[in-house]
Amino acid sequence: MTPIRHSKRLDKVPPFLFDELDKAKQKARASGKKVIDLAIGDPDLPTPSHIIESMRAAVTRPSNHQYPGYRGTAQLRRGIAAWFLRRYGVELDPETEILVLIGSKEGIGHLPFALIDPGDAVLVPDPGYPVYANTSILAGGEVRYFALREEESFLPRTEELSSLGKARLIFLNYPNNPTGAVAEKKELDKMVELAAATGAVICNDAAYNELTFDGFRSPSILECEGAMDCAIEIHSFSKTFNMTGWRIGFAVGNKDVLAALGRLKVNLDSSVFGAIQDAALSALSSNYDENLRAYEERRKLAFDWLSRLGCSFFRPKGSFYVWGRVPRDFSSVSFAVALLEKAGVSVAPGSGFGSNGEGWFRMALTRPGSEIAEGFQRISGLKLWTN
Ligand code: MLT
Repeated sequence: MTPIRHSKRLDKVPPFLFDELDKAKQKARASGKKVIDLAIGDPDLPTPSHIIESMRAAVTRPSNHQYPGYRGTAQLRRGIAAWFLRRYGVELDPETEILVLIGSKEGIGHLPFALIDPGDAVLVPDPGYPVYANTSILAGGEVRYFALREEESFLPRTEELSSLGKARLIFLNYPNNPTGAVAEKKELDKMVELAAATGAVICNDAAYNELTFDGFRSPSILECEGAMDCAIEIHSFSKTFNMTGWRIGFAVGNKDVLAALGRLKVNLDSSVFGAIQDAALSALSSNYDENLRAYEERRKLAFDWLSRLGCSFFRPKGSFYVWGRVPRDFSSVSFAVALLEKAGVSVAPGSGFGSNGEGWFRMALTRPGSEIAEGFQRISGLKLWTN
């Protein structure tokens, strides 16, 4: 039988990092290893019970068994507007400045298809979440990378972005994945000024905005003057409320950008199950302090272990990731492979986030403290940092 060929477009992007990591974990498990999964940022903490209760009730409502409306239910969009005003002091029009997404990844992935024409430049952080570059390439864009450097706290250099030429779209992500770096409002102000001066659109991926530590509170890019003219921001319920499997997020900001994204999406999907939207609305009335306390303990545990092992790492103020240096004589991939094969611990190789991630690894603190500690015990047995 002749194999069915896929489109040439698909060959332009590498295999998806987290899919590859899943396969490696499955293989290790099939060989009898008890794998401790610190590779993907998928919270182990439960979705708060009031969200589940609200879902239970919402599932029985007949109106939820029909199409929910393309841009998200009016109730959820109004709830998001109220939450945004409370949390960031930014007023949003629920009709035009809020769009419900099937998880933030879906919105990020479709945005280039809504905004760019073949050959348009898209500026993407390196290291960065692979979806920015991959979907820009699939949409025919020309990806130009800007570096995030440890010595600059993984913030972009404005001059470097300007030197990359005229871009249609700029992806930012603070608090940052994979490094955990955060951006003060004045840093975001600089990016908005740059976009306003060059006619680019900014998409700030704010999936980790509510996961910050050491007294830092992450601003929204929409707090910056002029941002509503050139920026959107993408938020997620996944990481804040432990709802990765529910697939719901939202985009806020410039109405023309959201109209374009919405115009694309009506051709592709019919929004999120109404019951999930009702449950998401009740999530917005929760506080997530308990989550933050759990991650604080895990951060302390991980920082102590890494210091004891002699591993140099970036001490992040945001996200639940730790970005560490691989030991001498290892590449990012050989280190991740060695950890999985010899210790049954899965971490993400830094190079999977771009060439500037080479020499680094990312650890997600999304397993219980006892498992994280066991993972470190196993890693310490390998004596990797002592040579
Ligand atoms: C990550 O681990 O970077 C993310 O959780 C993966 C994703 O959201 O797709």
